[in-house]
Amino acid sequence: MSSETSILGSTSQRSDHYRKLLSFVVSNAWMGENMAVENYSEMVPMFSSVDEKIEAVQQAKDEGKHILVLEKLGKRAGFGIDQNLIEEEWKGIRATFHEAAKKSDLAGCLIIQDLMVEALAVGMYKTFASPLNADREAAKVAGQLLDDELRHLDIGVRRINALMDKDSDAVHDSLVWAHSRVMPALFAMVHNACDFLCAKHVYCESELAYVEGGELHLDGAPKSDIFINLESLKLAALEHYVTMLDTTGFETRVVNQLVSSMAAYEIPGRVDLGIKEVLAGRNAPAETKCC
Ligand SMILES: [Fe+2]
Ligand SMILES: [Fe+2]
Repeated sequence: MSSETSILGSTSQRSDHYRKLLSFVVSNAWMGENMAVENYSEMVPMFSSVDEKIEAVQQAKDEGKHILVLEKLGKRAGFGIDQNLIEEEWKGIRATFHEAAKKSDLAGCLIIQDLMVEALAVGMYKTFASPLNADREAAKVAGQLLDDELRHLDIGVRRINALMDKDSDAVHDSLVWAHSRVMPALFAMVHNACDFLCAKHVYCESELAYVEGGELHLDGAPKSDIFINLESLKLAALEHYVTMLDTTGFETRVVNQLVSSMAAYEIPGRVDLGIKEVLAGRNAPAETKCC
């Protein structure tokens, strides 16, 4: 790591361009955290036991703290939460969650918030929390948030497993419904991120950070063939989502079918999200069920 990038963590070390891209990431994470507060709060009356209600309230409180931590990071880095840089798709995801809540589909709510949205949060925070991230201040904040999100993910898996024990078919139906509504929106965020930023006069092509000699650096040096861009940050989340579907114990044939459907979301000629690789890694052909 060059001496110029090794001591990052102070505002002055961040280029204007890096700050703008960080502002985009932080503003969208902030939006996701706001949505999480609303989602967990909406779930509270859906739980039957007092313990579960209290646990959901605590989760909403955790997400509230994350909002403040992200605002503080932005302030220290020299930017505020930029409503202009928040992607539109958040509204659709929140609306789908609300629809699930209105029809008392607790499994659907848990899958959307605890698997899909948490996977996005975990994937992004994990990428930023990497010890290779030269922006140590952002890495430290991401690491703190990551601990909570991983805990939320565990709670979600436990809750979904309990529902599966009661009615596995109904939970799988909720998964297929939620996947068809939410995952295209998450993919649209990935595909549109570049156009979205370009429309805001922010160059997404430039590296948010790049890897050279096995280490992650911020911009300010020549582009490398290997660099982490916004798409790869979100791809980490999508891969995490697929892993969580397996971990939760959903039927392999259903998960394979859902992963296969995601390949159709990729736009030919645009950024390759690596779904084909995910499919290959799973030996994708879905088993056929005869009965
Ligand atoms: Fe959070
Ligand atoms: Fe969370």
